[in-house]
Amino acid sequence: MSGDDPLELLRGRRSRPSLAAPAPDPDELHDLLVAASAVPDHGRLRPWRFVVIEGPALVPLGDSFAAAHAERSPDATPAELARTRTKALRAPMVVAVVATPHEHPKVPMWEQRAAAVCAAHGLVLAAHLRGFGAMWRTGWYGHAPKVRAHLGLYDGEEVTGWIYLGTPAGPVPSPRPDAEPSVTWLG
Ligand SMILES: Cc1cc2nc3c(=O)[nH]c(=O)nc-3n(C[C@H](O)[C@H](O)[C@H](O)COP(=O)(O)O)c2cc1C
Repeated sequence: MSGDDPLELLRGRRSRPSLAAPAPDPDELHDLLVAASAVPDHGRLRPWRFVVIEGPALVPLGDSFAAAHAERSPDATPAELARTRTKALRAPMVVAVVATPHEHPKVPMWEQRAAAVCAAHGLVLAAHLRGFGAMWRTGWYGHAPKVRAHLGLYDGEEVTGWIYLGTPAGPVPSPRPDAEPSVTWLG
């Protein structure tokens, strides 16, 4: 991605729901995750980690979504379960950004969760700046025991976001209308 004005790059970021191969390769992903981790982080606790699911590993992830759906809604139809299963297959790579907050004498849990949110957005931005497409998604299944078990989450860990990554495909989203930020100046 080129451009002289870094703010132009930031303003130009759009979520990309359609993502194709290739996803970032391991070296490229490493660079993205290091950049994503350079976020405000009270106490330098690094209260997040990344779970990377790529290629064929997305199929069992989708199976875990569907199993969670079946557990939550025993009357769900096969078509509904199939639709849930495909949620894992919307990109060639999904990175689950996992918040890992712990009780701390000086850094409240909410601040640790906020740092994890920053890391998730840092990953979205880093991907954009390197020319990849990204989209932050969530979903109830991120909290479902079957999905948590599939990801190997420990008690107290939380899925902050599913960051779908790949090469932008599909229509280019229309430019975001410049919205005036809500600003109050105190004088
Ligand atoms: C915490 C969080 C969760 C989100 N979850 C979803 C989601 O599950 N599905 C979805 O379509 N968009 C979700 N979004 C919104 C998209 O990531 C995206 O921001 C939105 O489609 C607007 O596109 P834009 O980023 O190009 O402005 C979420 C955003 C955030 C910050």
